[in-house]
Amino acid sequence: MKLSIYTVLSGLIHEAVGAWAPLAALSWAPSQISFFFSANGSLWHKYYTGHSGWEPFEGRFENLSSKADWLSPPAVVSWSENRGDVFLYDDKGRTWHKYWDGTTWQPKYLEQLGASSENRTFVGKLSAASWARDRIDVVGLVVNDSHADVGDYVHLYWDGHGWNGWEDWNEKDVTFSSPPSIVSWGPDRFDVFGIDADSNVWHKYWDGQKYSDGWEILDQTICDVEKGGCDPPDGFKSDSITASSWWPGRWDVWAVGNDAQLWHTYWDGSKIEPWEPLGGSFEAAPQVIHWSTDRVDIVGFGGAKGDPYWYKYGYWDGSSWHWKPSFDEWIEKTVEGGFASEPTLASWGEGNLNIIGLDSKGALQWQMWNETEWYPGENEWEVLGSMEKPEAAAAGLHNHQQHRLDPGSHTDEGGFKEDI
Ligand SMILES: *[C@@H]1O[C@H](CO)[C@@H](O)[C@H](O)[C@H]1NC(C)=O
Ligand SMILES: *[C@@H]1O[C@H](CO)[C@@H](O)[C@H](O)[C@H]1NC(C)=O
Ligand SMILES: *[C@@H]1O[C@H](CO)[C@@H](O)[C@H](O)[C@H]1NC(C)=O
Ligand SMILES: *[C@@H]1O[C@H](CO)[C@@H](O)[C@H](O)[C@H]1NC(C)=O
Ligand SMILES: *[C@@H]1O[C@H](CO)[C@@H](O)[C@H](O)[C@H]1NC(C)=O
Repeated sequence: MKLSIYTVLSGLIHEAVGAWAPLAALSWAPSQISFFFSANGSLWHKYYTGHSGWEPFEGRFENLSSKADWLSPPAVVSWSENRGDVFLYDDKGRTWHKYWDGTTWQPKYLEQLGASSENRTFVGKLSAASWARDRIDVVGLVVNDSHADVGDYVHLYWDGHGWNGWEDWNEKDVTFSSPPSIVSWGPDRFDVFGIDADSNVWHKYWDGQKYSDGWEILDQTICDVEKGGCDPPDGFKSDSITASSWWPGRWDVWAVGNDAQLWHTYWDGSKIEPWEPLGGSFEAAPQVIHWSTDRVDIVGFGGAKGDPYWYKYGYWDGSSWHWKPSFDEWIEKTVEGGFASEPTLASWGEGNLNIIGLDSKGALQWQMWNETEWYPGENEWEVLGSMEKPEAAAAGLHNHQQHRLDPGSHTDEGGFKEDI
């Protein structure tokens, strides 16, 4: 059923910045984390270097773009060690890209991708995945206020030679209301998930040769009461979903029910398991990360300014999964005054978890689990700077990342000349 949900969605565009993690983090090397956010029409970056801590230091950030009127929260992906890609869009429906190639940020400012989506209205965050070196898939939710055909997913990809897209995936009568979440569990494979205006969870995949036959609904009627798994009584909150993978042939999907608790389902390689309830009280799908094949860490935000973060993890002991503190309990993590939006997570490998969040006073807060303990403490955070008023690092205040190309000397095939 097609609904005109544009009014609902357009109201969410700026709310989205709060509801859907304004921050994005990733790690592309051991003891390394990078995180990004948009503020004051620019893209900002700060990175952790292991022994010398965060750079640029003292609450400053590296300004990675020129100035736009408004930039969306960034989406990030890494296809190999020492490579990171950042994607965002602006309020004119243009898509922008920048990447770390191991030595420098390319291009100097941001390059524009995907002309065909110009003037479209994106909603929420883009989502990006990579199944191999030199391959990136990016998906996003667009609305079009000039007709009722709203809530489509669009797809853009780098195939090693050029950027392709945006291509519209509206092959079926689905009106999406959540931004998509894309995940890859192996070479030449990706899975995309989304929620429609009627609270259905939809799934589509690329298997290396072809797409799945349109979109399939992840059957919400399967229910195994003995295992504690059952569909949420009133469907899912229709504005966010998270997908993850920790093993070839395996995907996990995390969505918040209208009962506000987190629900989880997965593909085990041969079948989709019933939804299991994991407790909690959330507005948007929590952030999920796997630092190894037998571990999942989840951090969510209540949804109102001043709320804490809620944390839990799961591990596989060789024969079954265990949830800590329990399948329906969460550990509260907060700062004075509470948080203001979803956190972002990053891990550089086994035993390492980083939580970066925005507090209700506009400061960016960081906490790290480093094999045996929380740094700086179980209920302590380190301030990384202000997101409300990001301070740019002066030239020379930080190291090698100063070296950049001159404007215009780099254009990717499929990229545009105009940079911001
Ligand atoms: C960034 O935006 C905030 C809030 O609008 C404003 O107070 C601040 O002065 C801006 N900073 C810069 C460097 O423009
Ligand atoms: C914690 O991380 C740092 C890198 O930032 C590393 O040098 C150190 O050995 C780690 N400590 C433990 C206990 O793992
Ligand atoms: C970021 O740097 C660019 C290039 O120097 C500059 O044009 C822009 O105004 C800066 N952004 C902010 C918010 O200061
Ligand atoms: C987007 O809108 C602007 C202003 O109306 C127009 O000049 C431009 O050609 C449009 N771009 C596309 C791809 O339709
Ligand atoms: C929006 O819908 C109108 C009417 O169907 C169509 O002509 C236009 O091309 C659409 N715009 C985009 C950016 O898809």
